[in-house]
Amino acid sequence: MFTSAARSTPWICRSCATKTSECTKRFQSTSALQFYQNRQLELYASKEAKRLTLRQLVFFGRSMNEERLIQSANYVRTELPVRIAHRIRDLQTLPYVVVTQEGVARVYELYWSAFEKFRRYPEIKTMSDNEAFCTFLQNILEDHATVIPSLSLGLSLSSPYLPPDELDSFMRRMLVSRISRRVLAEHHIALSNHVAGRSALPGEGNVGIIDTTLNVSESIRKCVKFLRERPFDLEDDQVVVQDEDRAWPDVLVEGHLNTKFSYIKEHLEYIVFELLKNSMRATGLKHQDKPVLPPILATIAASTDEIGIRISDQGGGLVIPYITSPSDLFSFSHIRNAARLETSRIGALRTVSSSKHGMKATMNEQMQWWKRRQRDSAPTLRADAPIEDIEMEAGVAPHPRIGIGLPMSNIFARYFGGSLELVSLDGWGTDVYVRLPKLGTNLEGIEL
Ligand code: COI
Repeated sequence: MFTSAARSTPWICRSCATKTSECTKRFQSTSALQFYQNRQLELYASKEAKRLTLRQLVFFGRSMNEERLIQSANYVRTELPVRIAHRIRDLQTLPYVVVTQEGVARVYELYWSAFEKFRRYPEIKTMSDNEAFCTFLQNILEDHATVIPSLSLGLSLSSPYLPPDELDSFMRRMLVSRISRRVLAEHHIALSNHVAGRSALPGEGNVGIIDTTLNVSESIRKCVKFLRERPFDLEDDQVVVQDEDRAWPDVLVEGHLNTKFSYIKEHLEYIVFELLKNSMRATGLKHQDKPVLPPILATIAASTDEIGIRISDQGGGLVIPYITSPSDLFSFSHIRNAARLETSRIGALRTVSSSKHGMKATMNEQMQWWKRRQRDSAPTLRADAPIEDIEMEAGVAPHPRIGIGLPMSNIFARYFGGSLELVSLDGWGTDVYVRLPKLGTNLEGIEL
C-alpha cells in the first residue's frame, strides 16, 4: 500500500520508499488489490438489504436464548456490510469534487474500513465469539461518532456542485441507512446484555433497545425537565442574552396522557428534545421584553394506528429571510437553506467533526455537558483533561448550532414510516406535528 507522510510530500511506496510513479511492481499489486476489493463491493452492493419492522425486532428479541442470540449476531455480521456497500456505491457515484471534500472523504474512508472489517469477520459460533463481536461492534459505533457532522460539513461544502434535490436525497439515504445500521448493532448489543445478565431480561419493558411500554408524556416531561434546568442562555448571530434571573418557558403537556407504545425511546426523546429546544429558544428571542415567557403546548393524540405529538409555541413562527418553505430547514443545500454555508456553522462543524467524540447527540449527553458547564463555570485545564473540557475551554459547545437537530429529527421520525411537519403562523408561532406509527408493522425506510 502507498502512503503519504504529509499532504505536501509525494506518495511513496511503504516497502521500497520510491515514489509510486517509479514503483511499478507495488503499483501493480495495489491495483490488483483494489480490483479485488471493488469486486467484493459489487458483490455485496448487488444484494438487497433485509429490512425489518419494529415488530420483528421485538418478537425476535422477546424470547432470547443463546441459539437465537448467535443467529442475531450472524444476521448483523452479514447484513451490515450489505448496507454499508450500498452507501459506498452511492458515494462513488457523486462527482469527484464532492468525494474529495474533507468531511465526505473521511466518511468514505470510515465506511471502506468498516466494510472490510465486517466482510472478513468470521462466523459467530459460541457465546464467547459473541462477546468479542459485541466489543467489535461497540468500537465501530464509537469510531463512527463523527459521521453526521463530517457528512454535514462535506455536503455543505459541496452544495455549490450538486443540485438541491440530488444533494438532499443523497443525504437522506446516508442518514437513514446510518440510523438503521446503528439500530441493528445497538439492538444486538442490548440483547447480548440481557442474555449475559448485565441488564434485565426482556419482559414487559425493554426488548433490546426497544421500550415496549414507552410512556409518551413521561418522555416529554423528562425532556422539559432537562431543558428547563439549563441556564437561560440565548445565543444567536445577532443577539446574546445570558440572564440568571430568567427561566425557560414552561411546557404544558395535554391530550392522551396515558399513551404508551412500542418504540425506540432514544429516537422519540431525540425528536422531542430537539423540537422543544428550538421552541424554547424562539420563544425566548421573541419575548425578550416580557417578564414571563408564554408557555409551549405539547399535545399527545393516540389513534388506532399512530401516535401524534404537536408542539405549539409562540416564538414568532419561521420568519427566516433565507427560507421560502418550512421544509427548507431540513435541506442541506445552501440554495434552499443559506445557513448551510455560513462561516460560523462551517467552523462549528469542522470542530465537532474533528473531535474524537463527534456530536453529543443524545439528550443525556447534551445534558451532561450542560451540567458540567454549570458546575465548573471557571474550569482549570489540566494536561490530561477530557476532550469535553478542552472544547469548553475553547468556548465550543458540544452541540453548537450546526443545524442538524431538525433534519435529524425528521429522519428519525421517517425511519419507521412516521413524519414530521412544520407549520408556521408567521409573526405568532410554530406548530410541529410528529406522527409515529403505533403498530410497528412498517419496514425500515432505507432506500437502495
Ligand atoms: C455508522 O455509525 O455510521 C455506522 O455505520 C455504524 C455501524 C457500522 C455499526
